[in-house]
Amino acid sequence: MFGSKKANTDKIHLFSRRMILLLTIITFSSIGAQAQKLTLYDIKCGERVNPLGLDSSNIRFSWKIKSNRSNVLQSAYEIRVSNHIGSLKSNKDLIWKTGKVNTDQSIYIKYQGKELSSSTKYFWQVRIWDNQGNITPWSEVQYWETGLLKETDWNANWIKSGLSNSGKSGPAVMFRKTFKANKTIKSARLYSTAHGVYEASINGERVSDEYFAPGWTSYKKRLQYQVYDVTDYIKKGNNGIGIMVGEGWHRGNLSTGRNFYGREEALLAQIKIVYTDGSSELINTDNSWKASIDGPIRMSDFYNGETYDARKEINAWNTADFDDSMWKSVLTEPSLKYSNLVLSDAPPVREKAIIKPIKLIVSKKGEKILDFGQNMVGWVKFTVTGKKGDSVILRHAEVLDKDGNFYTENLRTASQQIIYVLKGTAEETFQPHFSFQGFRYVKVEGNKSLINDYNTEAVVLYSDMEATGKFETSNPLINQLQSNIQWGQKGNFLDVPTDCPQRNERYGWTGDAQVFFNTAAYNMDVKGFFTKWLKDLKSDQFSDGAIPHVVPYFWRSKQGGAAGWADAGTIIPWNYYHIYGDKQLLEQQYPSMKQWISFMTSKSKNYLWNTGEHFGDWLFYAPKDDLQGKSAITDKYLIAQTFYINSLQIAINTAKELGIKEDVEDYSKLLEKVKSAFVNEYVTSSGRLMSNTQTAYVLSLYFDVLPEAMRAQTAKYLVENIKSYGNHLTTGFLGTPYLCHVLSRFGYEDIAYTLLMQESFPSWLYPVKMGATTIWERWDGISPDGTFQNPDMNSFNHYAYGAIGDWMYKNIGGINSINGFPGFKKFSISPRPGGGLTSAKAELETVYGKISSSWSIKKGKIFLDIIIPPNTNAEVILPNSRSEAIISNLVKNDLKNLISRENEDQKFNLGSGNYHFEYKWNNI
Ligand code: BGC
Repeated sequence: MFGSKKANTDKIHLFSRRMILLLTIITFSSIGAQAQKLTLYDIKCGERVNPLGLDSSNIRFSWKIKSNRSNVLQSAYEIRVSNHIGSLKSNKDLIWKTGKVNTDQSIYIKYQGKELSSSTKYFWQVRIWDNQGNITPWSEVQYWETGLLKETDWNANWIKSGLSNSGKSGPAVMFRKTFKANKTIKSARLYSTAHGVYEASINGERVSDEYFAPGWTSYKKRLQYQVYDVTDYIKKGNNGIGIMVGEGWHRGNLSTGRNFYGREEALLAQIKIVYTDGSSELINTDNSWKASIDGPIRMSDFYNGETYDARKEINAWNTADFDDSMWKSVLTEPSLKYSNLVLSDAPPVREKAIIKPIKLIVSKKGEKILDFGQNMVGWVKFTVTGKKGDSVILRHAEVLDKDGNFYTENLRTASQQIIYVLKGTAEETFQPHFSFQGFRYVKVEGNKSLINDYNTEAVVLYSDMEATGKFETSNPLINQLQSNIQWGQKGNFLDVPTDCPQRNERYGWTGDAQVFFNTAAYNMDVKGFFTKWLKDLKSDQFSDGAIPHVVPYFWRSKQGGAAGWADAGTIIPWNYYHIYGDKQLLEQQYPSMKQWISFMTSKSKNYLWNTGEHFGDWLFYAPKDDLQGKSAITDKYLIAQTFYINSLQIAINTAKELGIKEDVEDYSKLLEKVKSAFVNEYVTSSGRLMSNTQTAYVLSLYFDVLPEAMRAQTAKYLVENIKSYGNHLTTGFLGTPYLCHVLSRFGYEDIAYTLLMQESFPSWLYPVKMGATTIWERWDGISPDGTFQNPDMNSFNHYAYGAIGDWMYKNIGGINSINGFPGFKKFSISPRPGGGLTSAKAELETVYGKISSSWSIKKGKIFLDIIIPPNTNAEVILPNSRSEAIISNLVKNDLKNLISRENEDQKFNLGSGNYHFEYKWNNI
């Protein structure tokens, strides 16, 4: 997936006629004899800062290094751990101390101390030494807390109301209990989960800012529970806990059915209170709890929205004083188990932004529509005053039709409708609970005067991932494309990577996730998000090795094993490894990779995989009236064979990393045969492919399917093909991510830029020119005349084609990982200006710290500023800056040993620091 050294060299030669005459390099970070400052930040255990709720397999330590000097590498670390904060300082009663370990490893250091207990807080510190004789002080004290490590730690019973088991859509279930805390409280934790989605509150206050807990997983095998710190919510004396459970993914509508995981909401909750005298107490869900379905949430559903009747609000239901004698006693459910309970690796869904409407539109049809200016995912929060029984109805849409009217046909059966019935008090503020909508426009019905652009705001919801990437250029259209890509990610990374967030679909389509993974991982920290999802992929894999079309899998019949979709099981773990450098993930997924390979092998005859149902190059270019045969149809089995080859190569690479020699040998032999079967079946002697399409050429070149000698010629056919479409792409989901990478690698960077800058359909910028604020599912979701594509498959928030983001970061910004140095321990910075851009800036926060590459062209000169984080090295490649280059720097001593020259290109092997280059650029 990542440019090989060979590929980089190819790119360099491409530029060999663009002479760079003068080169200046300045390193800023080592000016003069400064006082040494070496510090640590982003100190994490289990990938989080001071987490609550880790299981034993995830106790691993990582940190990042800050220094005001250049060329800094870690030379040693020391970690100490204790379950008493005091003993860290005294260095006594430690449960683990590493002593000084001489290594540059600063990520994923596994805890190897004494066995850990459940629900226990552990304190730890780290210090490091660098290669220049400096040492950090011990870090601030960090901590992590274990979750419930054994099944027997669960004392709570699963409970149900017995009121909501019709299997039909209905009201949310409210569970409650009053309990007493007799002494002064030191700490309290709530361990909870549900069948459905839930919100917990204590003494009238919501205990968390998370939405849609416990998230969506392969429920039967992996149901996540949450750990909340509720110390501040519980008081000495009487307390009330109330937990509301909605249908969620568990039993709500999904596609054409519902009740996929069960027919009734259920709850499991356990509060552990620790008193200051050292004693502790458990409050568990059991048959002393009460339930009601007579609350205000009359209906809540991901596709269809929420109906909330504020007249039915039950005052103080989640406090101690509430009289619940009229509520029903719950039923305990001993048949429900604990063995599938797991802690989450992923960040929860949170409110991430607030957007105010930009205008209020009255359409030709007289509809009153709020325009929020951005297609997004979340819900509308509003404040109204009115009479008791008045109602407000909000409908949500992504686009208006060509006449400016509200358009919802592309939502299929998802009604995305919020109905709020007023209770008639002075001011009422509302936002939904167990539903989310994909929208830019909101049509207000019912008592229209109640809602306007002043008293509404859109709340943007997505998994709480940190932004890691930044990308901007001198071209506003490209910047809008980048914004659309990022918004596509925000809208579709809501606990699982979904295809789209608005119509009656919203599942974890494997192909879409696979195609977009690299871009996603540059934009945001998706490590935890995909660790979780890949565990589900593995759990849901069928026994014959086929990987399902969607993960989590819930369909009632078995459907999986499609080329390019199922390959999410190999491609994502391998790419993840490059980006995050975490071998544990490869170990976790390797058995699943192997099973997938066995599936393809078992379905092949004479090494050709030409059986089964495939989606092919989904949504490739096809003109409406195709008299000339311009539709870019790629044979599905040709595609399947290329993905088989790629997955085999990944399995070989993974087996090498994990040191499994037999597999490397076996798979390598198989790979040769599978490759030659491809050539025999699909390739002419001159390197033309049986399907003369861009996707066919791109896949066979990107996956190194063809013999070396043939590749250059095949790349020419690709370029010919692009030209025959007037410099337009014709690729669908599978070819698109690799198209520009292949062009760059084979010396056609200019064509890659031409495609990127193309403004007419089909292209990345066509939707931008049409006003898109997210990535469309189809290249022509809206035609130039304003008419829509087939509403059955016409989402305006589908991230797959946003996969071009990967090429933009790697080629325009020039930030690439290097094979053999996962996690950007060593990386390359090799920006490739083109396409008329006069400046670009790319940044990536890696597991070692921030990489930055920023260039501009002024008066024939290129100015390049880069940042290389401590404990890493970079190859900075300035294409063809060769002999005439003049290098000057302020601290010659530091740089003397750092600069190397390879062939005729200027290549610097640089250590950490901030650098500035200036050189002449004749190609403008
Ligand atoms: C989804 C796609 C998905 C496809 C499978 C569609 O309904 O929206 O993104 O990959 O089905 O072909």
